Amino acid sequence: MIKDFIKITDFTAEEIFETFKIAADLKKGSEKYSNLLSGKTVACIFHKPSLRTRISFEAGIFELGGHSLYITEKEIELGVRESIHDAAKVLSRFVSMIMIRTFAHKDVEELGKYAEVPVINGLTDLSHPCQIMGDMLTAQEHLGRAENLKIAYLGDGNNVCNSWLELSCRIPIDFRIGTSPETLPDAAILRKTKDLGLSKISITPNPLEAVSGADIIYTDVWASMGQKDQTVKKAAQLSRFQVNDIILSNADPHCIVMHCLPANRGEEITDSVMDGKHSVVFDEAENRLHIQKAIMVQLMRRYIG
Ligand code: CP
Ligand code: NVA
Repeated sequence: MIKDFIKITDFTAEEIFETFKIAADLKKGSEKYSNLLSGKTVACIFHKPSLRTRISFEAGIFELGGHSLYITEKEIELGVRESIHDAAKVLSRFVSMIMIRTFAHKDVEELGKYAEVPVINGLTDLSHPCQIMGDMLTAQEHLGRAENLKIAYLGDGNNVCNSWLELSCRIPIDFRIGTSPETLPDAAILRKTKDLGLSKISITPNPLEAVSGADIIYTDVWASMGQKDQTVKKAAQLSRFQVNDIILSNADPHCIVMHCLPANRGEEITDSVMDGKHSVVFDEAENRLHIQKAIMVQLMRRYIG
């Protein structure tokens, strides 16, 4: 069994659906896990800014009876002041779980390898698994199912797009990526997903083709954290993938529009779509709380007892 949640494929399909169920119960007010983290501390390490991830983890840990410790690069200087190996060993003596948001995905894998407690990926340059778990929960709430949805992802082939690909290795979907040849998702994740063959994966430079009949239109910022020097270049590569009213009119009339947030309104998404009746962006944000509590429940009860 894998003790960490570093990528979505660390969970089986069965564990993913069970996590959705736990999250839905918690959202309805179940108090079954109110003492799960009683007397326990969770270290939350942030090397990048955050609203949703930080606040939803802190609130979620509190709601499960635990204490969260907010740690920035200024305190432990992970991998600088001492090796990730040594920091992982020491942290494991003090805390029951570690959540980390950082740049290099390999640093999170190394932390998971040497920590004796579960490690959760709160976003790396490569992936954002908690986000996509929460998003699929949101899709299920609005569309009544998770399987066989037509999902059009428009924009940068970034960490969020990579996590959709990883989810599509566990849940069958028709995943269409509308992006430019310069902004494709991670080649290794794409290859693995296509080789597995559970989902239909297509990539097109034509945004209208990607959204044709789509149940979900999804977008994210064109330049992610750590890439702000590429803002102008990315905008030039991706401007035709903006989610606007014309794009929306080519999707299924019942489609929902999703964005992980924060959004650059007027760039990857217009105000009219973001504030329009198809948008579920704030439901997605709320579901980060419920899904992350459920992920912590899964990790704690499986690997800690
Ligand atoms: N969507 C998301 O992870 O938001 P934050 O960067 O604010 O945590
Ligand atoms: N792709 C974005 C997601 C933010 C939640 C980033 O990495 O900045």
